[in-house]
Amino acid sequence: MSLHNANLTCWNCPAIDLAGKVDFRACGQAVEKFQKSLGENSEVHIMAECKRRPELGIFDPMSITFEECPEWKETPFGYILKDMRVMILGIDGYLGWTLALWLGSIGCQVSGIDNYNRRDWVMERGAHSVIPIARMTDRLHAAREVLGIDINFRKMDIMDRSHLKEFLEEVKPEAIVHYAECPSAPYSMIDADHAILVQQNNVLGTLGLLFLMRDICPETSLLKLGTMGEYGTPLTGRPLFEGIFPADAVLHWHDQEWSLGGELTPRDPVSFYHVSKVQDTFNVYEACKYWWLHSYDIMQGVIYGVRTEQVAADPRLRTRLDIDEWFGTVMNRFVAQAVVGIPLTLYGAGEQLRGFIALEDAMQCMTRLICSPPEPGQYAVVNQMSGYYSLRELAETVTRVGRKEFHLPVKIQRVENPRVEADRHPFVPIYERLPKDFGFEPKVPPEEAIYNMFELLTQPEIKERIEQKKHLILPRTWWSGVKKQVESIEVLEEVEVPD
Ligand SMILES: NC(=O)c1ccc[n+]([C@@H]2O[C@H](COP(=O)([O-])OP(=O)(O)OC[C@H]3O[C@@H](n4cnc5c(N)ncnc54)[C@H](O)[C@@H]3O)[C@@H](O)[C@H]2O)c1
Repeated sequence: MSLHNANLTCWNCPAIDLAGKVDFRACGQAVEKFQKSLGENSEVHIMAECKRRPELGIFDPMSITFEECPEWKETPFGYILKDMRVMILGIDGYLGWTLALWLGSIGCQVSGIDNYNRRDWVMERGAHSVIPIARMTDRLHAAREVLGIDINFRKMDIMDRSHLKEFLEEVKPEAIVHYAECPSAPYSMIDADHAILVQQNNVLGTLGLLFLMRDICPETSLLKLGTMGEYGTPLTGRPLFEGIFPADAVLHWHDQEWSLGGELTPRDPVSFYHVSKVQDTFNVYEACKYWWLHSYDIMQGVIYGVRTEQVAADPRLRTRLDIDEWFGTVMNRFVAQAVVGIPLTLYGAGEQLRGFIALEDAMQCMTRLICSPPEPGQYAVVNQMSGYYSLRELAETVTRVGRKEFHLPVKIQRVENPRVEADRHPFVPIYERLPKDFGFEPKVPPEEAIYNMFELLTQPEIKERIEQKKHLILPRTWWSGVKKQVESIEVLEEVEVPD
């Protein structure tokens, strides 16, 4: 069976420079539309030069496929450029570090920046990663020693545009993965200072990056992380399309039909952090339109888990895991609660539905997207999740695994909900593009990731680190601005935990 990106051509390849008479008035359009707009008898042709194979001279970029080009090699995730240069912004984070090792292990040349904001923000809250993480110098040393991976790292703030410009010019990345944002909704809701910090860091960091890409590497593909939380949970049950309405979507209004096809879908963010992601969405969309940048905006579900083959290879290579109210994500927090005997906390009714994806599956998705760069001017969106569950269902799964496999007396409790959100609502996410267009098949069911987490978090040293910070698990950050710890509404002592 041919790989999902076998028939893509140099038109999508970051190693080409468009050359000759390219009409930039057509920016933001797919190539067929572009050619159509020029008319059949037009003398304008899109031509390209290859930075990796200059001997080709000037050629038609549609004439060579990835399958035919010797610069693209086969991997389990599709064809990928040999020694592809991938720059990860936010490389010290939960996902960034994991992806760096993952990509290094399939032969990419990995570079990255981080200014350790995440370490500082967690320390500011008096919390810590319950999995101890090595300093960056030790991480880099271990990656080389254990996995044979050399990572070109610079300590740098994404806002420091003059240094980032130099680094981009030096590395000439063929793909940029942009993780370098503050990822926390509750952190953005603490007070005005935190909301402003999150929006400045995220929105302005990304905006500056877009300008640098325009000037230095417009052909590089940008993989920018958004979140499923950008869409909110519309109470009408309207499907959450992948960022853009499908061609046949229609609005009926005043006895008329209006096509919505190709327009951005509505966003209804649920915190000032999520608002920063929505602002990014518009900025990236505009940059693709104005400057022919190539971008995937990845609406990522909540990630869970701690395991990939590479991060498990040595304790110095582990990635972080947070359980405090600001930076812990829900499934990771549930497992930590189970380990130290705190009943798992459901906010309100606990019937909120959310999209989820295991860490390893998220890495697979990112690799597949890197292998299939978007077209020039293309702003494409994928909803990156492998399933959706109510928080109650997840709590029950954690309870079942904890009780059966680890003999822990796990309980579930309902607590006051400090957020402003519907805790019962319809949820119809569409997440078809990654499986259909990029060959993504989820490999890690929630039970397996939960089991792996229990195995690690029940180790004495890590359990002790959870004990030290367990007072930071119950939330005190209310969306209303009130500062008080949430109260327990009921402990579901007799909860049925089906097999
Ligand atoms: N983890 C999830 O469940 C999840 C879900 C949806 C979306 N996301 C998004 O994915 C991305 C990565 O998430 P994560 O969980 O790895 O978060 P993380 O905080 O662990 O990683 C982000 C990294 O970026 C760095 N960073 C932040 N601001 C920076 C700046 N100004 N300059 C340089 N580096 C900076 C941080 O120090 C950190 O190491 C974020 O954009 C987040 O919003 C995460």
